[in-house]
Amino acid sequence: MGALSQPMDSRLALFSDSSFNTGAQVSVHNHHPKKERVTTMKRIILLVGVVSLATALAASAAEPKDNWGTMCARCHGVDGKGQTNIGRLLGVKDYTDATVQGALTDDAAVTAIKEGFTTKDGKNVMKPAANLSDSDIKGLVTYLRTLKK
Ligand code: HEC
Repeated sequence: MGALSQPMDSRLALFSDSSFNTGAQVSVHNHHPKKERVTTMKRIILLVGVVSLATALAASAAEPKDNWGTMCARCHGVDGKGQTNIGRLLGVKDYTDATVQGALTDDAAVTAIKEGFTTKDGKNVMKPAANLSDSDIKGLVTYLRTLKK
């Protein structure tokens, strides 16, 4: 029995690694309760891996609108008007205003997002945005432009 069950077991292990479709497998495993626990563990570990990979991908592919909502809206407002408590306190401009938008170049916007922003009188009012790729930043600038009314 020992010699026969060896390759069988490793085949089952291989199968459970590459497939989440457990219907047939579970009945095969029923008379090997210990083995089943092990493969269930493997499935859970694999599933956790898949889920965290998906989460990582989702995070790196965040939409500009979502980045704006989580990283910028606190000060600039969801609508870009800057009418939040911190926004008012720090003197955030109204980015729905065409004149304000006109005075801002794309380059300056990219620099502000990358390096933060310091007012003329030396007050650092905005920190650099963390964990944004160049394309995330470009996306944010494009999104900022859509806020103009
Ligand atoms: C802690 C509050 C705060 C956060 C968070 C914040 N900003 Fe700002 N931001 C300011 C303030 C204050 C100014 C200076 C006044 C103004 O231009 O509105 C500013 C200026 C800017 C400017 C204009 C820079 C220039 O050269 O005139 C841009 C563009 C900008 N922010 C974009 C963003 C984006 C995009 C995010 C999110 C990734 C963000 N800000 C997050 C407070 C903040």
